[in-house]
This record gives sequence, structure tokens and C-alpha cells, in this order.
Amino acid sequence: MLEVKSLSKSYGKKKVLENFNLSASKGEVIGLVGENGAGKSTLLKILATLLKEDSGQVLLNDRDYKKHYRSLRQYIAYVPQELALWEDLTVMENMKFFENLSKTRRSKEELKSILEAVQLKQDDKRVNQLSGGMKRKLNLAVSIINEPKLLLLDEPTAGIDLKSRIEIGGFLKKLAQEQEVLIIYTSHDMNEIEQICDRVVIIGQDDFYRNLLHQYI
Ligand SMILES: Nc1ncnc2c1ncn2[C@@H]1O[C@H](COP(=O)(O)OP(=O)(O)OP(=O)(O)O)[C@@H](O)[C@H]1O
Ligand SMILES: [Mg+2]
Repeated sequence: MLEVKSLSKSYGKKKVLENFNLSASKGEVIGLVGENGAGKSTLLKILATLLKEDSGQVLLNDRDYKKHYRSLRQYIAYVPQELALWEDLTVMENMKFFENLSKTRRSKEELKSILEAVQLKQDDKRVNQLSGGMKRKLNLAVSIINEPKLLLLDEPTAGIDLKSRIEIGGFLKKLAQEQEVLIIYTSHDMNEIEQICDRVVIIGQDDFYRNLLHQYI
């Protein structure tokens, strides 16, 4: 479903991605690990069509990003490392706002059931009154309104308590299994990666993660 071929990206003289390759199928959950600055967010931004590679190729369902990035966007959802929500609006108002932007029409009941799926029940609460973990859940809920085929998550569980972490993990696994969404997400928590992911992809040159991975497999 997703083919990344020989992808390279530099910022000025700094090489971040060098001939990176990845092949992934629908319904897979892939954990992307690597040290700070290894290029995880850079890769996700390229896969989200928000950043252009210097060289290499990305194909989604055999369609080249370079030619089809506009039409491919409707199948892709990206949750950035930083939260992107309207703080003064309520949970449901945020859902409605993003539903309006999306091509898929969703009823209030459907929006509610998405919130329930991520275990967020505070529909009427303003975002600025939510905890960090609840905001992350809302960010995730907002991203799947559009029923993406490829879901890219940049540290969706950073700074989240264990209970919410497990809830989010369970939700992602179910989404991949039941709706065949390809999920690629980054985390610094190897236990979590081991529990949720079908496969781990290491990014960057540091052998630390390669060695660490042997302890988990
Ligand atoms: N817009 C930019 N301009 C210049 N350099 C950048 C830019 N964005 C990222 N970088 C650099 O590219 C490298 C990779 O950054 P990236 O954010 O992809 O890493 P990361 O693996 O996501 O790190 P972290 O685990 O800290 O989130 C870093 O050295 C960073 O400083
Ligand atoms: Mg990052």
C-alpha cells in the first residue's frame, strides 16, 4: 500500500534522511523509533505531503506523491507532535469544526461515537479545561473524522498516563484491524511499541536502538 523508495532529505547541509526505504501494507501498525533529531517527524511530514523530499519516491496505492499529492491527501491523516486544536471551543465544537473541513459528512452521533472510541466523554468541556492526555485523545479523534487509509501519528502518547496510553494503543490496534488503516507512529516508549506495533522501523544511524530492539524481539 505504501512504498517509500530511497528517500533523502537535508536541511541546508544537514542530512536527515538518506536513502530511506519502507514498504508497508494496509492494516499494519508500524512503530518508528530513533533518537531525538533522527528524522522521525521529518519522515512523517513528507508522508503527510506537508514537506517535500529532496530525492526518492513515495507511492500510495501505486500512485506517486509527486503527481497525485492533492488527491492522495484525502486518504491521509496526520497528527503533529504539537497539538492543533481550538482551545476556546468545546470538544464537540472542535469535532464539528474539523468535520466541516473534511470531505466526509458526519452526524453528531457519529462524531460522538468517534469520541467514545478514543474514550473521551467530555463533549461540552472547553479544550483549555482538558488535561494533556485528553487533548491528545481529541487530536486523535479529530484526525480520523475523514476515515483515512494512512494515519500518521507523531508521539501520540507523549506525556500521557498509563491508562490513557493503553486506551489509545487499544484504539489504534482496533482501527488497523477493523478498518485496515495503515498506522505509522513514533514513540520513545519501547514497551508501548512492542505491545501495539506489528513492526518496528529504526530511523537514523545510532546503533543504540538496534541493540535495544534485540532485547524486545
Ligand atoms: N525546518 C527545519 N529547518 C532546519 N532543520 C530542521 C528543521 N526541522 C528539523 N530540522 C532538523 O532535522 C533533524 C531531524 O528533525 P526531526 O524533527 O525530524 O527529528 P525527530 O526524530 O522527530 O526528533 P524528536 O525525537 O526530538 O522529535 C534535527 O536535527 C532538526 O534539528
Ligand atoms: Mg519528532
